[in-house]
Amino acid sequence: MKFLFGLILGLLITAAVGYGYFRFGYAPVATSSAPMPFEKTLAKLALRAHIQKEATKAPPISANEFNLTQGAAVYAQNCAFCHGAPGQKTTMAAKGMFPLPPQLFAKEEMVTDDPVGATYWKVSNGIRMTGMPGFAEMLTPTQIWQVSLLLANADKLPVQVQSALAPPAQLQNVKTDLKQPVADQQQKKKKN
Ligand code: HEC
Repeated sequence: MKFLFGLILGLLITAAVGYGYFRFGYAPVATSSAPMPFEKTLAKLALRAHIQKEATKAPPISANEFNLTQGAAVYAQNCAFCHGAPGQKTTMAAKGMFPLPPQLFAKEEMVTDDPVGATYWKVSNGIRMTGMPGFAEMLTPTQIWQVSLLLANADKLPVQVQSALAPPAQLQNVKTDLKQPVADQQQKKKKN
């Protein structure tokens, strides 16, 4: 009886401390805060366990130049904003996220060693609470395989494919003056 009482009390205290951690604002919510204790380890553990179960599929298409170029077009339009592209600076948005989106064309962060099926799973389903969107509703399965094959071959892409990853020429020439739009907005406010 005493043991049972102790057990229940112990459980209640643990639950109360856990609740208090969130209720009284100790849990990090800003992207710039340090991760919660064990956050990274547990998140990685859950993701790996889940994907191992589901992502044993082999790609139904081959990594030929056509498929890689299609993948590059998908990537340039939907992914480069967060994951970067060869020879381009990391975008401001990519620097302000938590967790940081891996720069998938930077040598140390490439996913060339991952099974293509695992990348396919991540791109289809997204990764909850990280900012990584799931694209299953927006891209066709073929497009998702194409972009996954692109990433699996990120370190050995043919020149043609690499040029498909470059941003459109007209964007490269635009000089962004960050102070300008803010000043415009303030002027508009004054008029109103
Ligand atoms: C809004 C930002 C954003 C966009 C857009 C985005 N991602 Fe991500 N992605 C992330 C973040 C953040 C992570 C890191 C998740 C984590 O740490 O678990 C990630 C993780 C990944 C990973 C896992 C990397 C690894 O090391 O395991 C892959 C692969 C990936 N994204 C591919 C893509 C592809 C392909 C696209 C476009 C179709 C895309 N992402 C679009 C933010 C984004």
